[in-house]
Amino acid sequence: MVINWNDVLEKIIHKEECAAARNQNKIPYSADEEGNFDDRSKDISWWTNGFWAGLLWQLYGVCRDGRFRAEAQEIERKLDESFMSAEGMDHDSGFKWLLTANADLLLTGSGESKNRLLLAAGNLAGRFNPAGNFLRAWNDETGEKAGWAIIDCMMNLPLLYRASEICRDPRFYAIAFRHAQTAQRYFVREDGSVCHIVRFDPQTGEFLGSLKGQGMKEGSSWTRGQGWALYGFALSYRHTHAAEFLETAERVAQNFITRMQEFGHMPVDFCQTSDCPFEDSSAAAIASCGLLELFSITGKEEYSAAAEGLLEGLLADRCDLSTESDRLLTHCSAAYHDERHNFPLIYGDYFFIEAVLKILKKETFLW
Ligand code: GLY
Repeated sequence: MVINWNDVLEKIIHKEECAAARNQNKIPYSADEEGNFDDRSKDISWWTNGFWAGLLWQLYGVCRDGRFRAEAQEIERKLDESFMSAEGMDHDSGFKWLLTANADLLLTGSGESKNRLLLAAGNLAGRFNPAGNFLRAWNDETGEKAGWAIIDCMMNLPLLYRASEICRDPRFYAIAFRHAQTAQRYFVREDGSVCHIVRFDPQTGEFLGSLKGQGMKEGSSWTRGQGWALYGFALSYRHTHAAEFLETAERVAQNFITRMQEFGHMPVDFCQTSDCPFEDSSAAAIASCGLLELFSITGKEEYSAAAEGLLEGLLADRCDLSTESDRLLTHCSAAYHDERHNFPLIYGDYFFIEAVLKILKKETFLW
């Protein structure tokens, strides 16, 4: 069946207009059984708090509806509170400020937004550990996690590339480049699969091993992590033109494309058994964006075909286009070992919309 993606986009815009009107002043993370959004605005530093604003900015870029812009700018202002919480600032600053301040800067030229972007980038750069050439992931009081780095961070490097571009200062770029090289070496396996967490000695930089993180077990392949790597290395290539990052992104993509064929819907981990019902539609949406990015870089149609296959699968029965509910993608999971599975997650919605806009060449490039 040939999908008319312009029709899909029209339906999404209408749906999100209704959702935005029902959810003013909220920062959604997930939704209940009926599809009504929750609100994470009291937990202002939560890593997903930029995605709803990013989704609204992407739609604003297409239809210039001022209600989308106003709501997104309100969230951007709320995120300022995070700058006053050292504990709340971590490796995920790109997710928060690329999709808010960077979007505002690109679409309106806001000087305040530029200021926010640079504050966030300065903090992220401060997480660099020169002994091991990696950006530290989470904070913890004991120091146990001082040497931990995670694959998700690949998606946050564009905050540093953007800061270098804006300031005409190579320091941010150099840190991002060195982290990407470290991630290539220690996260990406020979077959193109990736692990979630790597531990280094924070004093010497020595590699100590990997951890399963949000995947099924050590050595397995958490699908969202594969998606972060696929899209993240493609983005590092886009910003640096270093052939090694493109080679890595393509290796991760090949592994992803081969393994996704074994499953009807996207599993949480490619190593889970075929009778395990856990799904993660967000991984499919993120990987679609990465594959479409690779298609635009290389022109290889196998990437666009794989991305469209994934998106068609989501549209068929993992997508709620009703204007009565707030959720868009269904059947996402935060982590394999969580109790709750197969529910909506706001980043799934964001990346699904970004992928549709990429197909239509209507995306505002925020990374
Ligand atoms: N960045 C955290 C996650 O993907 O769940």
